[in-house]
Amino acid sequence: MKDGQPSAIYLKDYQVPAFLIDKTELTFDLDESVTIVTSRLHMRRNPESKFRTSPLILDGGEDVKLIALAMDDYQLPPEEYRIQNHQIIITATADQFILTCETLIEPQNNTRLEGLYRSSSMFCTQCEAEGFRHITYYLDRPDVMSVFTTTIMADADKYPVLLSNGNEISRELNEDGKTVAVWHDPFPKPAYLFALVAGNLEVLEDTFVTQSNRTVELKIFTESHNIDKVDYSMDALKRSMKWDEEKYGREYDLDIFMIVAVDDFNMGAMENKGLNVFNSSCLLASPKTTTDDGYQRVEAVVAHEYFHNWSGNRVTCRDWFQLSLKEGFTVFRDQQFSSDMNSPVVKRIEDVSFLKTAQFAEDAGPMSHPVRPASFIEISNFYTLTIYEKGAEIVRMIHTLLGEALFRKGSDLYFDRHDGHAVTCDDFVQAMQDASGIDLSQFKRWYSQAGTPRLTVTGDYDKSAKTYKLTVSQMTPTTSNQPTKLPLFMPIRVGLLDTKGQALTVELDGESKTNHVLTLSKSEQVFEFFNVDEAPIPSLLRGFSAPVKLSYDYTVEQLAVLMSSDEDGFNRWSAAQELAVRELNALITQAKRNEPLSIESQLLVGFKHLLSDESLDKSMVSLILNLPSQAYLSEISDEVDPQAIKQARTYLKQLIAKALEQEFADCYERNNIALDYLPNAEQISQRQLKNVALSYWNESGSIAAKKAVLSQYHSADNMTDQFSALSIAVNTDHDDSTSMLEQFYDQWSHEALVVNKWLMLRAAQETEHGLEQIKALMSHNAFDLKNPNKVRAVLGGLGNSVSTFHDESGSGYAFLADQIIVLNKRNPQLASRLCTPLTRWRKMKPALSVLMQQQLERILMEELSKDVFEVVSKSLA
Ligand code: TRP
Ligand code: ZN
Repeated sequence: MKDGQPSAIYLKDYQVPAFLIDKTELTFDLDESVTIVTSRLHMRRNPESKFRTSPLILDGGEDVKLIALAMDDYQLPPEEYRIQNHQIIITATADQFILTCETLIEPQNNTRLEGLYRSSSMFCTQCEAEGFRHITYYLDRPDVMSVFTTTIMADADKYPVLLSNGNEISRELNEDGKTVAVWHDPFPKPAYLFALVAGNLEVLEDTFVTQSNRTVELKIFTESHNIDKVDYSMDALKRSMKWDEEKYGREYDLDIFMIVAVDDFNMGAMENKGLNVFNSSCLLASPKTTTDDGYQRVEAVVAHEYFHNWSGNRVTCRDWFQLSLKEGFTVFRDQQFSSDMNSPVVKRIEDVSFLKTAQFAEDAGPMSHPVRPASFIEISNFYTLTIYEKGAEIVRMIHTLLGEALFRKGSDLYFDRHDGHAVTCDDFVQAMQDASGIDLSQFKRWYSQAGTPRLTVTGDYDKSAKTYKLTVSQMTPTTSNQPTKLPLFMPIRVGLLDTKGQALTVELDGESKTNHVLTLSKSEQVFEFFNVDEAPIPSLLRGFSAPVKLSYDYTVEQLAVLMSSDEDGFNRWSAAQELAVRELNALITQAKRNEPLSIESQLLVGFKHLLSDESLDKSMVSLILNLPSQAYLSEISDEVDPQAIKQARTYLKQLIAKALEQEFADCYERNNIALDYLPNAEQISQRQLKNVALSYWNESGSIAAKKAVLSQYHSADNMTDQFSALSIAVNTDHDDSTSMLEQFYDQWSHEALVVNKWLMLRAAQETEHGLEQIKALMSHNAFDLKNPNKVRAVLGGLGNSVSTFHDESGSGYAFLADQIIVLNKRNPQLASRLCTPLTRWRKMKPALSVLMQQQLERILMEELSKDVFEVVSKSLA
């Protein structure tokens, strides 16, 4: 970092705003060279502020040029205000006034994709978290809520569609051939929820009748070549609207709800009031171009953004430290929705697997932070798995502790009490406590304490007394800036099984049942069960009832019983994972010592059974058959050796594949049935199992399997089957993989989202000349440094490739660092996210660790954005 270092801001310094903005009137004169923004802010001093004479300070950005500034129509001369650190400071103001501000911006040169920018042929905005200040000067903080009226002027031919929040109240043609459209949003909102879109777009229209019988117009906009891919999103939107009414009693409030697909977008999607803006990758879907995973992502993101209308927009965040107030709760809501739409167990396994792989890694690394952070340098860096996924786990624990009915009472109270306000995580928990009467004061520590708690459990059976004692102790390892940790309050769902796997009905606290929720609050606690007829196998943390790392010293036989018989589907999967992890860890140790790999796998019996029992849920079987990922095995390693992990996984997969070759072949054939494509749970699980079976069968080396891969690739009528076959071929050096890759590109070169999948697959390919391949991809026609999806495809792919990224010369790390340095200037948010793999340097084996560290140090020498500076400097600290 060359210049002065950016400084942190702290939650403890929070002050209510000195001024309020009751009304915001914006006028945009859009143009390809310069765009003029005029704002009229109806301001007054905040009666709740104790600073009665403080100056007015408005946030701006280096890319906003001030043209004129007036107070109540009096043009302020330069000596009556100053601009410092991109802020306008006006010392003397009345208690109430209208501030008029004219600014010039250049959306066409905005490569940060924050504020107003261009993506392909349209203008669009992204204002969360602090993007609005790149449009005009403003009190850009979420506790300043204002009623917006937006006038958009743009060339009538090029931009027939002009959109903003709320309702369109007028539209006319002016004398310059521009359309002038005026939008008004009656709901006060923070500036981060402002949105504007202008373009030549097609629309899919529909309607939704709310529970109180109001008809809402629904419109989804895309560029014309994509309008055939939004039917599924529309369907998902209507299901989300209905679900939120039924599950939470939440009805949509405006008369119109719009979604726009944008190609260049830093994140997944954005919940702007009445006008959601989506990364096209999270909105477009068609059987031929979108995989089953893609469909499920679209469904979840459409729901997530829609649900924000209540959890985020009607009730918003007081400050950005409270981000998880809206994100954690909304992720929990979208998880519940997907669970209701598909299979609850499968959804839970997928979510937990993701949490344990990625969020646990984040929480053990240098960017570890509490769900409500105490400080940050750049808020964009805090749209993290901790805020989103761990935040959702916290809400889920409240749900488990309160039960469905009291949780609903709590959410009703929360929405009712805080409607139209900007509030805190404490307010959320308080509403849950007040509605339920359950004391959640200790529970609140989950918001302020970072790190993943470790639970150690031991069991003690007393045969004569027929009692079973579970001793549970908890400990949270130290994280950056938090040396001491306190015990947390959490629900632990447990059941006891006999040695044959039958559920035991046992008594705890006077209640006899097969499934109990223990509440842990101390560092060590003993729970005593009565009427336990035999020495039990405990099924612990059912449904992953708390986001912790649990250890219990199971025997292999006990894990096998849990895997085949536990009434909790999640724990059946969990036991299988534990078995696989043990074997993989043994193999990893052998690989690290350069010993020949060998193991007698205990998984074979269970897997054989899974493959032959046709009554089982096919998704569950697939999830169990999938070996723990490279990323998960890295997360649980004390010292990561990527090559050893890769070797161990390949060895075990081949061993299983060879031993059960016939079973995999049969399973494949049984499930390889032509169907009219539908993205429903039943079909998805069938394709999932079929493709897992094909992947193993192919790994056995069978010629028939290789033929099946090729034939599925060519005959597939949907992207799930086509891309599965392609990935299997590419990842196992199938003789035809090169021609398949070429054919695939030729077939799909006109479909950007499919091309991105191709880019990622090729970038992640384990080949000898991986880096040359990456460089070739980045100069390929299909690549575009402006488009975050493409950058993530190639550089994310690079990060996943063991041989290229972790090459012992350090060339993979250096290449990524080069790209981060380039992107740091163009798109700081994107650059900062690309740093993640390097930030894990401390856990790598020494030979790689030092190479990663060197690259981080090299990046730190550059003139850095706040985004990259924060991540890199914290990683090295
Ligand atoms: N609030 C968005 C969500 O639903 C997140 C988001 C979208 C975002 N775009 C962003 C956050 C840009 C920061 C910057 O999760
Ligand atoms: Zn969100």
